[in-house]
Amino acid sequence: MKILGTAAVIAGMLTSAALAEAVAPTAVKYDEGTVAMSLSGKAGDPVEGRDIVGNKKKGNCVACHQVTDLSDVPFHGEIGPALDGAGDRWNEAELRGIVANAKLMFEDTMMPAFYKTEGFIRPGKAYTGKAADETFGPVLTAQQIEDVVAYLKTLKE
Ligand code: HEC
Repeated sequence: MKILGTAAVIAGMLTSAALAEAVAPTAVKYDEGTVAMSLSGKAGDPVEGRDIVGNKKKGNCVACHQVTDLSDVPFHGEIGPALDGAGDRWNEAELRGIVANAKLMFEDTMMPAFYKTEGFIRPGKAYTGKAADETFGPVLTAQQIEDVVAYLKTLKE
């Protein structure tokens, strides 16, 4: 009993350390589409962000956006504007809001919300017919959003 209790305490400590300061997708405070505070409580890593923006399995932003800095990645789409100079056009809070949920900044945009878990029509859990639950996470984690924002800030004209 005592050993189990200790294990539970340690497990709880590990979980809270891993989730330190992260804002849940449902708790993000938007101000006219912008988000002032880091979602992870930490600074973003622009090198990691560059990978996420160009990676088809992660952000896959290049499916819709051209980015001259990512010319090593093939096939950039043209559905959205080129992201060149995005760091001049938008400040950090605006970029964070756009990446987390672009629908608040651009009404009816085709751009998906990358940090959102509710409020849209979704398929049930793995086609079981059950409603999607909390295991149906956002597309990107809080830290990945911060990494993408840090990278976008480097895109100056
Ligand atoms: C399905 C297409 C699509 C995807 C995927 C997509 N976007 Fe967009 N994005 C758009 C469109 C369309 C707009 C223009 C806004 C509008 O709809 O009026 C836009 C606008 C933007 C803007 C503002 C444009 C500017 O002035 O620079 C930024 C920044 C941006 N997207 C970043 C991203 C990032 C980062 C990702 C990946 C994490 C991403 N987008 C993924 C379609 C997309």
